[in-house]
Amino acid sequence: MQQTSSFIRSFVRREGRFTKAQREALQLHWAHYGIEPGQEELNLDKLFIKKQPVVLDIGFGNGEALIALAKQHPELNFLGVEVYQPGIGNLLRNTFAAKLENIRVINTDVVELLNNSIATNSFAAVLIWFADPWPKKRHHKRRLIQVPFLQLLAEKLVVKGELNIATDWQNYAEHIQETVKQSGLFEELPSSTFIQQRPQTKFERRGEKLGHKVSDQVYIKKTN
Ligand SMILES: C[S@@+](CC[C@H](N)C(=O)[O-])C[C@H]1O[C@@H](n2cnc3c(N)ncnc32)[C@H](O)[C@@H]1O
Repeated sequence: MQQTSSFIRSFVRREGRFTKAQREALQLHWAHYGIEPGQEELNLDKLFIKKQPVVLDIGFGNGEALIALAKQHPELNFLGVEVYQPGIGNLLRNTFAAKLENIRVINTDVVELLNNSIATNSFAAVLIWFADPWPKKRHHKRRLIQVPFLQLLAEKLVVKGELNIATDWQNYAEHIQETVKQSGLFEELPSSTFIQQRPQTKFERRGEKLGHKVSDQVYIKKTN
């Protein structure tokens, strides 16, 4: 599936407010951990020091959960994609502080990344944790998880690759379940086969404070 530049984006681009530390981290560490997306396919093995399965974290926010996960799983490489630059600065600062070499970062829209720069059968797993829920009905078209996007993910996942989704919005959880079913591309699993424990995220804590129930959904790509 090819989505063109006229597709509806799942985010509103905002400059955001940087702390001094986040801005400095971007300046100091982008060259080491950051990847400039282009029109050419990325060689994922060459991005990391160790050749091991790659997990894509879509919309990592401030990167807190991604850092915890990369520490928990040194046997995996993590590619984080995010459009919010202060969040990227935060992730870079903490990646450097923890001396993690199994994290690399891309600052772009995940739809463009997948369409332009990722080969088929690339990721062992894809994480979409607390994606923007776009709760108003007129904004539902902005939700990231739609059938064409699931088709794109399935193409980029390895055989039996895993899709891990979490949300604190009941209506989005239902939408996700229906959309995944409609796609016919994934089967639901009771839990992840290789992520032992999903770390808590900033948006999860925010949802819990509002009394939202958190729903985790784990899927495996169907073989056919
Ligand atoms: C609600 S936040 C959740 C952040 C984090 N996963 C957490 O749970 O704390 C959603 C994040 O997804 C990012 N995002 C939304 N659409 C995206 C896209 N198409 N490509 C990359 N990042 C995206 C936003 O910038 C935002 O930081």
